[in-house]
Amino acid sequence: MLTPRLSAIKNRIKAEVAADIGTDHAYIPIHLIQENRAKKVIAADIKEGPARIAKENIEKNGLSKKIEVRIGSGLSVLKKGEADTIIIAGMGGILISEIIDANIDIAKSSKLVLQPMNAQYELRKYLIENGFKITGEDMEIEGFKVYNIMDVESGDQEKFKTDFEYQIPKYLKEHKYFKNLLEKKQREFTKVINGLKTSKNIDTKKLNLYKYWLRELKKYESE
Ligand SMILES: C[S@@+](CC[C@H](N)C(=O)[O-])C[C@H]1O[C@@H](n2cnc3c(N)ncnc32)[C@H](O)[C@@H]1O
Repeated sequence: MLTPRLSAIKNRIKAEVAADIGTDHAYIPIHLIQENRAKKVIAADIKEGPARIAKENIEKNGLSKKIEVRIGSGLSVLKKGEADTIIIAGMGGILISEIIDANIDIAKSSKLVLQPMNAQYELRKYLIENGFKITGEDMEIEGFKVYNIMDVESGDQEKFKTDFEYQIPKYLKEHKYFKNLLEKKQREFTKVINGLKTSKNIDTKKLNLYKYWLRELKKYESE
């Protein structure tokens, strides 16, 4: 059984050849094959340990012919166009943007499904400023946690009108978990503001930015 987060990612995929970068346990590749969501999957990880566990899980499920395990950093394990869909999930948003940037030609030749654990603001900014468009975005929850899952492809997207929209895009407003997202962001911003206020050398620029984001968030709540 997949967790709600992994299941929501898997449900967005319909591929000939998918690649799961940072696969760890290979749960997504296994379910993609079992549910006919991909004909072949490349399951890649930078570390030998996770790649070994991935291999064991794939073998246990008798899927070694359909899921190939590769060891290496980011998209360097792929040839351009080799996978029509690339999944990068369960990592920080900044690491995801670095993985894309290191092999941007490969990233631009496929559909991307991205699930950043944090720094969604930085990731959206990176994507929109570097020739990608976010064609869809879903959210899933597990308790208090809210996960964003982005469908991304090469192309131009109009920049968001305000800085705050990179934090919480307006297109998420109709989502059933929008309220959960606002609550999560309120907790996150308040925690950062309180931390900054109690630090010895207050970073006023950062403090003002987070205060602005908190004010903008309250406007969203009252709309
Ligand atoms: C927290 S796990 C996420 C596993 C799975 N994708 C998920 O969403 O549950 C992150 C995995 O990414 C791998 N990883 C980290 N940096 C990587 C990179 N640059 N290239 C490939 N894999 C990487 C780690 O070794 C680890 O197995």
